Amino acid sequence: MTQAKSPKTFRVKSFGCQMNVYDGERMAELLGEQGIAPAAEGEEADLVVLNTCHIREKAAEKVYSDIGRITKRGRKAGKEPLIAVAGCVAQAEGEEIMARAPAVSMVVGPQAYHRLPDMLAKAVRGERASDTDMPAIAKFAALPQRKRINPAAFVTIQEGCDKFCTYCVVPYTRGAEISRPYSDLVSEARKLVEAGAKEITLLGQNVSAWSGENEAGRSVGLGGLIRALAKVDGLARIRYTTSHPADMDDDLIAAHGEVDKLMPYLHLPVQSGSDRVLKAMNRSHTAESYLKLLDRFRAARPDLALSGDFIVGFPGESEAEFADTLALVESVGYAQAFSFKYSPRPGTPAATMDDQIAPEVMDERLQRLQAALRRDQLAFNEASVGERCEVLVERRGKLDGQWLGKSPWLQSVHFTGDVGIGDLVTVDLASAGPQSLGGVLCEPAIA
Ligand code: 5AD
Ligand code: SF4
Repeated sequence: MTQAKSPKTFRVKSFGCQMNVYDGERMAELLGEQGIAPAAEGEEADLVVLNTCHIREKAAEKVYSDIGRITKRGRKAGKEPLIAVAGCVAQAEGEEIMARAPAVSMVVGPQAYHRLPDMLAKAVRGERASDTDMPAIAKFAALPQRKRINPAAFVTIQEGCDKFCTYCVVPYTRGAEISRPYSDLVSEARKLVEAGAKEITLLGQNVSAWSGENEAGRSVGLGGLIRALAKVDGLARIRYTTSHPADMDDDLIAAHGEVDKLMPYLHLPVQSGSDRVLKAMNRSHTAESYLKLLDRFRAARPDLALSGDFIVGFPGESEAEFADTLALVESVGYAQAFSFKYSPRPGTPAATMDDQIAPEVMDERLQRLQAALRRDQLAFNEASVGERCEVLVERRGKLDGQWLGKSPWLQSVHFTGDVGIGDLVTVDLASAGPQSLGGVLCEPAIA
C-alpha cells in the first residue's frame, strides 16, 4: 500500500439488518468526529466503508465486486479511495479479503469498529489494518455521544447469539450473547430523549435473551428493562426486535399488557411450520408451542400485531412440510412478515446436510408463501381502517404537504396537515393498501 492523503469525505454503505444500519450510523458519527464529512450525493468519497451482511446469498462475492466498482469509479474521478470492509463478512472472511483484495486497507468486525479512527491513521500511513476482536462492551463505551437523532431511534441492547440454528451464521459472526448493562441503557435512553427521540427500538440478534441488574441489584430481563425505560419522561414509545420463542418469559408477556408505552407489535420469527424441519433447524420450539406462545401474548395485549421470519427450502423440506408452514401462516394472520429462500452459509451444519432443495422449487414455494403473507398484511391493514390512533411523524411524504409516520402497529401512515417531524399526532385511519395506510389528522392533536 502506498501512503494516502487524509480523507476529507466518507461514505458508509450498510447492508442487511437494522443492527447493521445502527452500526453504520455509529461509524458515520465516529468518522464525523475525525473531521471527515459525508460525501455529497453522486460524488466519489475519499473513504468508503462497506458495512456488509453475511446472512444470505453470495455475500463475499458481492463485497469483491463492490470493491472493484469503487476502485474503478475512484480512478475515473482521479482518486484512489481508501476502502474499509466492516460488518459480518469482515468478521467471517477478513483474512481472505485482505489476501484477495489489495485495494482494501481496513477490515473491521462488528465488535471492533470503535477502533476505526486508529485503523484509519494506519491506513493513511500506508499500513493495512485488520481488527476482528470481539470486546463488545468496550465498543459501546468508546463510541461518541449521538447528536443527530431521529424521533424513532435505535439502541443496541444485546449482541450475538447462542442459539445456533443450523442454517444461521450469526453465532459465528456476531459471537456469543452479551448484554449491555442496565444503567448504561437507561442513561442512553434519557440522553436520546433529551436529543429529541420519542420512540426507542431496542435492538439485538436476540433481545429477549437480554439480562441485567437493576439499581437495586436485582436481576432483570427484557420485561424489567422495558418497565424501567417506560419511566423515562418524554419517551412515548418502546419497541424491540428480534426475539427467539425460547426466551419469551412471563414478565415480558405481562409487560405487553401493563406497559402502555410498549407498542402492540411483536416480531417473533418462526422459520417453519413443520416440526421435523424445526428440529433439523435446531429451533427448540414446535409449531404448536409457538402458536401457544402467541396466544399468551394476545391474551395480554389483544390488539397485538404479529410479524415473523420464514425460510423456505431448508434441506429436506418436503411439499407436505412446506404446506405446514402455509397452514401456520393461515392460523396466525400476520400483520407483516419477512420470508427468505434458504441459503447455505459456509461453516453452518445445514450447508452440508443431504437433500438440498432445487432453486426452482424454492422459488415456487417462496412465491406461494409471499402471496399468503401479502394477503394477510393487506387484510390486517384493511381491518385497521376506522381506527383512531397516534402516529409518530418521522418524515415528509412524496406529495406536497404530505407526512409519513408510524401507527402503534408499525404500519406506515401518510396524511396531510400542519405537523412537524417528531410530533405524536392523532389520526383516523381511512384507507388501506398492502404497504401503507392513508389517514386523516384529527384537530386539535390530542398528543
Ligand atoms: N438462509 C435464509 N434465511 C436465513 N436467515 C438466517 N439465516 C438464513 C439462511 N442461511 C433468516 C431467518 C432469520 C432472518 C434474520 O434471516 O429467517 O430470522
Ligand atoms: Fe441466527 Fe437462530 Fe440466533 Fe436468530 S436465533 S440469530 S436465526 S442462530
